[in-house]
Amino acid sequence: MSARMKIPAEGFVYSRAGRGSELRCERVPLTEIAARIGTPTFVYSKRAIEERVRRLRRLIPDCAIYFAAKACGNIHVLRLLGKAGCGADIVSGGELFRAGLAGISPKKIVFSGVGKTQGEILEALKAGIHLFNVESLGELLTIERIAYREGIKTKAALRINPNIHPKTHPHISTGLRGNKFGLSRGELEEVYRVIPRLRRVRVCGLSCHIGSQITSAEPLEQAWRKLLEETARAPFDATHLDLGGGLGISYAGEKTLSLERYASLIRRVFRGKNFALGIEPGRAILGPTAILLTSAVSVKKRGAGPRGASASSGRSFLVVDAAMNDLARPALYGAVHPIFAVERAARAHQKRFDVVGPVCESADAFESGALLAEPSPGSLFAISNCGAYAMSMSSQYNARPRAAEVLVEGARYRVIRERETYADLVERELL
Ligand SMILES: Cc1ncc(COP(=O)(O)O)c(C=O)c1O
Repeated sequence: MSARMKIPAEGFVYSRAGRGSELRCERVPLTEIAARIGTPTFVYSKRAIEERVRRLRRLIPDCAIYFAAKACGNIHVLRLLGKAGCGADIVSGGELFRAGLAGISPKKIVFSGVGKTQGEILEALKAGIHLFNVESLGELLTIERIAYREGIKTKAALRINPNIHPKTHPHISTGLRGNKFGLSRGELEEVYRVIPRLRRVRVCGLSCHIGSQITSAEPLEQAWRKLLEETARAPFDATHLDLGGGLGISYAGEKTLSLERYASLIRRVFRGKNFALGIEPGRAILGPTAILLTSAVSVKKRGAGPRGASASSGRSFLVVDAAMNDLARPALYGAVHPIFAVERAARAHQKRFDVVGPVCESADAFESGALLAEPSPGSLFAISNCGAYAMSMSSQYNARPRAAEVLVEGARYRVIRERETYADLVERELL
């Protein structure tokens, strides 16, 4: 089956419309969302989100799920995930704030990240979070000092750096010795010497997170086995193990681990071991549950050059109204998010297009050689798998107001983040 025959995300389906077909999210035609809300707009399927969490919880019922809020921080999405049983993995005071607004209990929040400031540590202590995933001796001592000053007790897990290659893009690889994350063996020994002196922080576990968009079992298994080895060495009762996030999804047909295989790997590695387990998935839950709805702005045909043949033998650029400020992944990592036409005529003649955004960077390109029917201005497209690291990484680059976000539930939908306006662009610039 060609990529064009597939759907751009879970919860989306082509249904018959006139002589062709049109894409819907659950029961809502995307043409309707475009007409009412405009484009570019992120469209999430509530059913797909809930279904992915349900699947994961059914597969590993005893494992806590801390959704990595960096993947998608919209408070309505976080609230949905919280109701579905997830906690949150946060990496900033801002994410703590978002999780709080979404009603996620602080008891279900773990605080990761390599540069927690004193202010953020204080906020997390006051909120009463479940635990800190500690990245350095200095950080552990800072938490102890602030907790002592405030008369608060807390817990910590030590994030190990297992020096394992996650076989993913170097920018999202975090578990190698050369990466800034986690504690090396030598650093762990230093921390171990200090633990007996801590009065306010109870070190109760270990954690790791070796990278994102990991598509095979081996690196995860190796990292988790290193965690287990470390529990045997650690001079404290390691009752909590946080296995991190990192599970990849299939963006353009690449093979990856299903939720089922991922869960069975966890069950196999930790069978018979008596730990409180947690995972921090972001992409694997949200990635395949949303699309970025965009419209064609223009088609730009380029001839093959002075000695070349006709324009049709050159390139055709389809310029859409979404750009790298809305979806940075292709520009940042060379990520591929195949594009789907929202309306498809029966037996339409298709051609190859390079789909690009309007931002003044050549990196602002979404798909090269997409096979599409000739679009006209206003033709609608769905950029696939945009639930994770899409809106949360967006910016206002080129003075482009951020896109709207819409959550679909059955035949209804609601705006969960309004489209920004020009006034929003200058809001903080004291006029
Ligand atoms: C500490 C930590 N946990 C979890 C995640 C989530 O990763 P993913 O979305 O790949 O599951 C990240 C992402 O970078 C992270 O840094």
